[in-house]
Amino acid sequence: MYVCVCNGVTDRDIRRAADAGCRELAELTARTGCASACGCCASLAAALLDEAELTRPQAEEVAAAVDFAEDAAWEDTAELLRDVHTEAPAV
Ligand code: FES
Repeated sequence: MYVCVCNGVTDRDIRRAADAGCRELAELTARTGCASACGCCASLAAALLDEAELTRPQAEEVAAAVDFAEDAAWEDTAELLRDVHTEAPAV
């Protein structure tokens, strides 16, 4: 869905930015233009950034879980964990 109509920024764009390390609205604005015109989208964009951070698997935790699964010869589990880490969370 479009979050920022003025700049054509979608919720997926915001999640992608969050996955790439964007944590603050000002940074999102710099990267995408979101909230740089009328500003109506600012609160929703900030909420989506926060939500993406809360639902994003932490890289270190996932890497540790993959190592554990590989050590235990649980290849299916290790593969699943790698997939979870590389896929954007469905919100
Ligand atoms: S809707 Fe995002 S700046 Fe206007």
